[in-house]
Amino acid sequence: MVKRLHGYICLLALFTCAAPALGAGFHPVHAKKAMVVSVHEVASRVGAGIMKAGGNAVDAAVATGFALAVVHPAAGNLGGGGFMLFRKANGEAHFLDFREKAPEAATANMYLDANGNVIPGMSTIGYKAIGVPGSVAGFVYAEKKWGKLTLAQVMAPAIRLARDGVVLTHAEAQMMRDPLLAKFPETYRIFQRNGKLYEQGELFKQPELARTLERIAKNPDTFYRGAMARQLAADIQRGGGIITAKDLADYKVVDRRPLRGTYRGYEIISAPPPSSGGAVLIEILNILEGYDMASFGRNSAEAIHLTAEAERRAFYDRAEFMGDPDFSNVPIAQLTDKKYAAEWRESIDPDHATPSNELKRPSFDGLDRLAALHKPYIGPEPDHTTHYSVVDPEGNAVSVTYTLNDSFGSRVTATGLGFLLNDEMDDFASKPGVPNMYGLIQGKANAIGPGHRPLSAMTPTMVTRDGKLYMVLGSPGGPTIITTVLNTLMNVIDYRVDIQRAVDSARFHHQWMPDELRVEAWQLSPDTMKMLEKMGYKLRHTGSWGDGECIMIDPKTGERLGASDSRNNGKAVGY
Ligand code: GLY
Repeated sequence: MVKRLHGYICLLALFTCAAPALGAGFHPVHAKKAMVVSVHEVASRVGAGIMKAGGNAVDAAVATGFALAVVHPAAGNLGGGGFMLFRKANGEAHFLDFREKAPEAATANMYLDANGNVIPGMSTIGYKAIGVPGSVAGFVYAEKKWGKLTLAQVMAPAIRLARDGVVLTHAEAQMMRDPLLAKFPETYRIFQRNGKLYEQGELFKQPELARTLERIAKNPDTFYRGAMARQLAADIQRGGGIITAKDLADYKVVDRRPLRGTYRGYEIISAPPPSSGGAVLIEILNILEGYDMASFGRNSAEAIHLTAEAERRAFYDRAEFMGDPDFSNVPIAQLTDKKYAAEWRESIDPDHATPSNELKRPSFDGLDRLAALHKPYIGPEPDHTTHYSVVDPEGNAVSVTYTLNDSFGSRVTATGLGFLLNDEMDDFASKPGVPNMYGLIQGKANAIGPGHRPLSAMTPTMVTRDGKLYMVLGSPGGPTIITTVLNTLMNVIDYRVDIQRAVDSARFHHQWMPDELRVEAWQLSPDTMKMLEKMGYKLRHTGSWGDGECIMIDPKTGERLGASDSRNNGKAVGY
C-alpha cells in the first residue's frame, strides 16, 4: 500500500521516475549530467525532474526548496530563511542572502527580565521568537533572476505534494511527535491531528499549505506586500509577536559577494557574513595549510589535535568579531589572511591542547584593538536546518542551506496559511556574556537591533580546481555546520577518500567554548581517544550530527557524484 501510494505520487507529481541514478550508501551515486542531493528522496526527485524538463540548477534548487518546505517541515520552509550560493558554469558566483531579519520593534533587551536575566524559551518558542522570514523572497528572486522556467512551473511539484500528500517515513512520523508542537492549536491540528498522531506509512496532506503555495505561484508579492502579508502579520500580532505588515514589506534579499580562500591549490567559495561559516572555514584551512595533514593520517590523534586547535582559534575569533556586516565592521580580510593564520599556528603546541581560556590572539593588523571593543557573548544556536546541493548538465551549481533554526522553528504555524515560522531571533546574542545551550560565545556585533540579520553558521560552499567546479558542500548542525563542511572537504583533499566516504566519515568539533572536543565516539578508536585525552582534551562523546548532502565532479570524466549522508534518510538523484 505504502509503495503503491508512493509510486502514485511519484508518477503524478514528479515525472522523474524514469530510471534515475539513485542511492544513499557506501558509494556515491554516479550521473553523467545532473544531480540533486537532499535530505528527502522526493525533494531530490523534484529537483532532478525539473532539470530533465529543461530547467537549470537554479530552477531545480528553487523547486527542491519549495518541495522540502512540504516534505521536510522540520527545517524546509516558507517561514524561515537561508543562503543560496550559485556558481555559473563560467565561474561567476553569487551569494544570495535571504536570512531572516529582526523586526523594527526589536530591541537589544527584548528577551531579558527586569533583572536583566534571559527569560528561558522566549527567543526559541512562540510568537516573539519569530524573525521576518526571507525564504520566499530568496527563492522568488533567484528564480526570476537566474531561472529558465517560470515560478509556477518550479512550484507545481510542491503544490501537488502538499495537496495530494506525502507518505511519512518512520523518522518523519517520529519527528512530528515533538511535544512542543502541541503548544500551538494550529500546529497541533496540522502536524499532530489534534492528538491522533501520524504513523509511518500514512499519507500526510497539507491543504492550507497547498493553497498558500498556489497563491505565491500566482502572485509572489502577496507574501510580502499583499493580502497574505496582512494575514500573516495580523496572525503573528494576535499571538503576541511584533512583526508588522511593514516589516514584511521592507524585507529585501541581498545578492552578496561570496567569500573566497584557497587551500592546497583549490579555491574555496563560501558564505560571507551574516554567516560566520565561510570566514571560520577559511581561517581554519589557512592555519592547517602549514601542516602536512595527509602524513598524519585521517582520524589519527595528531590530525584531530591540529584540526581541533585550528578550530578553537577560529571559533574564538568568530565569538569576538562576527555579526551583520550591514551594521558592524566585520574584519573579514584580516581573519582570512594567511599571514594571520601563520601567526596563530605559532601558538599551537604539537603535543598538547591549548586551554581555551589561555588563548592569546596574535597582535595582527589591528585585530587585538578591535577585540577590546567587543564583549564576548555565548548565545543560543539550535542545530536544525537543512542543506541541499545541485549541479545541472551545463555545470551550473547551487548550494543551499536554509532553516527555521530549531526543529519546527518557533512551533508557531501561521493560521490558515499552513506553514511554520522560524525562531531565528535566537541566533542573536540575547545577552552578552551569558552561556547558551550550545555554549557558543558571540560578540556585541551580533546584538539584537531593528532590521539586523542574526549571525549564522550556515556554510553553503563550493570548491574549484583550475577554475573548474570540484565539490558542492554543506550541512545542517548549528555551529557544527562549519566543522562538518571542514571534515568533508579535508577528507577529500587531504585524505583522498571519495565524496561518499568523506561525508560518512567520523566528525569532530571544537568551538573554543565550552572547552571540549565533541567526537562521534562510535566512529573513532578508543586508542585515539585516549591519546587525545592525554594531550589535554576533554572529550564529549555524542551520537551523530550533521547531514552532508554533497556533490563532487569527477575531474576526469565530468561525472556528477552525489553523496547523501548515511546518517540520515536523504538521497542523491541524478541522470
Ligand atoms: N540557525 C542556524 C544557523 O543559521 O546557523
